[in-house]
Amino acid sequence: MKIRRCAVLFIEPREDLGIDWAALFSGAGALSASLRWVALAPHLDRETTIDAAQVAALGAVGQTAWTERLDAERQLGAAMVDSLLALGLLLDDGASDNPARERDALLRDQHWRPLSAAAHMFSRWDGMQVDKGMHFPSFEELVQSYGAPPPPAIGRGDPEAAIKLPPPASGPLDAQLMQRYTGRNYDPDAVLPLDVLARVLQRTFGAQAERMVAQEALVFKKTSPSAGGLHPTEAYVLVQRVPGVAPGLYHYHAVHHVLEPLTMLDAAAASELARQFVADQHWFVDAPVMVVMAARVARNFWKYRNHAKAYRALMLDAGHLSQTFYLLATEAGMPGFVTAAINEMVIERAFGLDPLSDAVVAVCGCGVAAAGQTTLELRLEE
Ligand SMILES: Cc1cc2nc3c(=O)[nH]c(=O)nc-3n(C[C@H](O)[C@H](O)[C@H](O)COP(=O)(O)O)c2cc1C
Repeated sequence: MKIRRCAVLFIEPREDLGIDWAALFSGAGALSASLRWVALAPHLDRETTIDAAQVAALGAVGQTAWTERLDAERQLGAAMVDSLLALGLLLDDGASDNPARERDALLRDQHWRPLSAAAHMFSRWDGMQVDKGMHFPSFEELVQSYGAPPPPAIGRGDPEAAIKLPPPASGPLDAQLMQRYTGRNYDPDAVLPLDVLARVLQRTFGAQAERMVAQEALVFKKTSPSAGGLHPTEAYVLVQRVPGVAPGLYHYHAVHHVLEPLTMLDAAAASELARQFVADQHWFVDAPVMVVMAARVARNFWKYRNHAKAYRALMLDAGHLSQTFYLLATEAGMPGFVTAAINEMVIERAFGLDPLSDAVVAVCGCGVAAAGQTTLELRLEE
């Protein structure tokens, strides 16, 4: 049998801080710190604590060529090789099923940049809730804790040399740009008309034109820019209240302009899922529609293989789409929102997405505003 190391592995000397109660009561320094080695291997869905001997052993086994297990055992000891195989940090080429080896193969096939894969896999949330770990402090609380924030605008260079610009002329985009705001008070009884949903989806995520740029290479023209013209971001839709569309989970097809049903839900289950998607941010839950933006990494990484900027490009792509989404919602007379404070793992399970191939980036939504404002919004004065 042969073995090799997993494709991507980072080892972190993790410091865990705690209160040393004995020291506290004896009047000594009360902060205790302990150190351990944490293996961050993105093909595994968990961090793994290992010891110093395992760290050294992992450094002695290559990740590309398969080596004879017996040779590794002679060098490192059979027990050590066994322990690292059991953790999924070493992989064998045996015939039996090995989930870690399959995940590692998928990771290799996607052409992830190693640091990006680790950043993505280990920044996902599951079961995170506002006020339980993810606190949203008010500006007053923040100023109390941290003092004044850095100023919102800064000058650079010699102010005397600054060139005065003419005031911006009015333009047709102004209506949407000035009216756009993040809605945090949705009318829980209002529906999103089907024609509004159709326009917002098509003009944000739909293909406006198609072009063969090389044999077998088809690209779309969309209303937002996309790195390499590849448009890897897919729209997964959670419908709560749209006339003619049953509550449930759908995928939006960028060419066919259809909602593809994935899972039907009753109204209560749809609302509960919405709450979990946005980590309990109750101010978004009543939006009649949420759209999950998830990047098909293989589409972008096909060109940007093992590329230092590729993951950043995926994030930027979603940012552009969300602004387009906001402006279309604004045009329809309603607020929109985008949030990155989301439970990616809940979303992955709901839509059946694998985080190594479909990277959930953010959730946006829109809907009719409620009459009052109970949660803060930044609307321009009328
Ligand atoms: C990347 C990103 C993440 C955001 N995440 C959240 C969020 O988690 N919760 C929230 O209420 N608003 C979120 N927002 C909205 C911002 O809070 C909002 O844009 C900002 O306060 C300015 O208000 P405006 O959009 O009305 O101009 C996010 C916006 C962006 C661009």
